Amino acid sequence: MDLRNAICDKFRVENKLEFKTSQIVVSNGAKQSIANICLALLDEGDEAIILAPYWVSYVEIVKFAGGHPVVVSAGIEDDFKVKADQIKDAITPRTKLLIFSSPCNPTGSVYTYDELEAIAQVISANGNILVISDEIYEYINFTGVHASIGAFEGMKDCTATVNGFSKGFSMTGWRLGYMGGPQWLADACNKVQGQITSGAASFSQEAAAVALRANRSEAMAMREAFLRRRELVVSMLKEVPGLKVNHPQEHFCVSRRKPLFWYVQWQCEYQ
Ligand SMILES: Cc1ncc(COP(=O)(O)O)c(C=O)c1O
Repeated sequence: MDLRNAICDKFRVENKLEFKTSQIVVSNGAKQSIANICLALLDEGDEAIILAPYWVSYVEIVKFAGGHPVVVSAGIEDDFKVKADQIKDAITPRTKLLIFSSPCNPTGSVYTYDELEAIAQVISANGNILVISDEIYEYINFTGVHASIGAFEGMKDCTATVNGFSKGFSMTGWRLGYMGGPQWLADACNKVQGQITSGAASFSQEAAAVALRANRSEAMAMREAFLRRRELVVSMLKEVPGLKVNHPQEHFCVSRRKPLFWYVQWQCEYQ
């Protein structure tokens, strides 16, 4: 309960999201939060729209839950960000989910306020689709602005905001993530997780509550180190003949004839 209180405060202050503690489900990592939601929500053949380039596990988790992944892509010319109209065109009567991360792994792109608002309008107008907004890279963002799609008009009841401690707090091995969402979804996720792993480790939860209530100076120091590395690597890549290089707002990404994604796990190398 202490950690869930700290998460509610964090969501309110940093993300303009209002949740009761009963709407927060703490898991063994953000990956489990995403799996909980897919297992709770998807029936055989239900479609999940996944914005590409995407983090590898989204497609596999959707398939594991019996769903059908529908990949909607953006290229380097669009800063690797999918437009709201592309999402609208991909929606069918079987669409149950939209999954994306911003800041994005692997591209480093960050969806702007306006881009998220346009996506929110498409989703809220539909009424049958839940969004998994994976915000685990919230603090590794060089734009200085982080917006949560769940805070847009009409999105409160159809967004699960997923976050965790692996990236911004470098607590990867402590295995701790969480989601905040509508009560019905939190109840369903609790049932799924309760039969698979039960709660997350108690000592991880205590450490995470302390981390959340502290200031973000460690995360900001990491961000500065990542920024220096990003500038160095991007400038070197730009010297490679024939290689198109995107200048992302989070990690970075390069493209040859076909997009080739080179994701550096900064968080592992920071120490
Ligand atoms: C976009 C994204 N979401 C979720 C995760 C999973 O994080 P966790 O360690 O909290 O399970 C990762 C890990 O690489 C990730 O890149």
